[in-house]
Amino acid sequence: MTRQKKLFPSTGRPSESEPSTGRSARDDATRHRARAVLRWYDSHARALPWRVGPQAIKDGAVPDPYRVWLSEIMLQQTTVATVINRYQEFLSRWPNVGAMARSDRDDILAAWAGLGYYARARNLHKCAQMVVDVYGGVFPDTEDELRKLPGIGDYTAAAIAAIAFNRRAIVVDGNIERIMARVFSIETPLPVAKVEIKQAAETLWPKSRHGDFAQSLMDIGAEICRPKSPSCLLCPLRKGCGAHNAGRAQDFPVKAPKAEKVRRNGVVYALANGKGEILFERRPEKGLLGGMLGLPGSAWVDNGAPVLGKDAPAQVQWSHCGDVVHLFTHIHLSLDVYTALAPKGFRRANGQKWILPERADLPTLMRKAVDCATSREENKK
Ligand code: ADE
Repeated sequence: MTRQKKLFPSTGRPSESEPSTGRSARDDATRHRARAVLRWYDSHARALPWRVGPQAIKDGAVPDPYRVWLSEIMLQQTTVATVINRYQEFLSRWPNVGAMARSDRDDILAAWAGLGYYARARNLHKCAQMVVDVYGGVFPDTEDELRKLPGIGDYTAAAIAAIAFNRRAIVVDGNIERIMARVFSIETPLPVAKVEIKQAAETLWPKSRHGDFAQSLMDIGAEICRPKSPSCLLCPLRKGCGAHNAGRAQDFPVKAPKAEKVRRNGVVYALANGKGEILFERRPEKGLLGGMLGLPGSAWVDNGAPVLGKDAPAQVQWSHCGDVVHLFTHIHLSLDVYTALAPKGFRRANGQKWILPERADLPTLMRKAVDCATSREENKK
């Protein structure tokens, strides 16, 4: 133990004095750590609906790339708990890439409600079509080819290559970043540390079981190496963990101070008719909530305070019912909600539709705005 510590400083990178023999002691230690992680995974892997567990993999089961891709897109910036509740729904409705490619994009967008970032749902459809049209319905099996598909960036390409095809792709998501920053005591703040972290992950990565290894780190990140109060005593990487050994697990990853969110404001108009319906329209394709159903309204402007104005859909008596706020990654969006009953003879504009609010497939922010509007007594008809 003591000998090992001397040879391998907490950075886990080669020490200058390390002899350059073919198979170094450092290689052995790395292999040992990867093995400990995989052993842990063999008995602690989470049962997730999209996952082929370690025993099934050993028994020869092969993951379905479509399911791996679908889950990875759904998991981009959405929690495992949320996706668990929705993944099966998607899979039943679109059981394979062909079914998704043939489906109506609006159905996918509607099913996506509440999962955030609708660009991902649009890319789901585009990607399925490209896999069918360009790759004959078979997902490509390398990171480079996967990266050419809509909605698949560096991380997702690596995750699919490792999990679906057992390629040696170094998968580093937020959880794995935290593990590496702690194990290797990386003092460089994120996001600058990303390259360093990926290199560190590569030194730890085994020569086989790439999908299992990626998923074991995901599980360790979610269940043990949590951002707050990590359970270091349960961690298979505890012994070689620089942060743990220094009693500083919570100090990593070091983060650069957060940039303030841009404040964006807008106005939405909830116009009700006598049948309990509200007037909706689709948002423009580009930008926040692109292509989603929403209430008509003003443009959303940075640091401005738009007031009820000429873009209101009818010359009627508007009343302000409140404002709703939604936090996107870089944007704090606040919408003032106005309501009114449509006057006799009101004609909707092209593309606008009367829909019962409970039937409308709305993104969370628009649902909040509609709830704000429909909670007013005068609109409950
Ligand atoms: N987060 C992103 N991808 C994941 C996966 N395949 N399993 C668990 N968590 C994840």
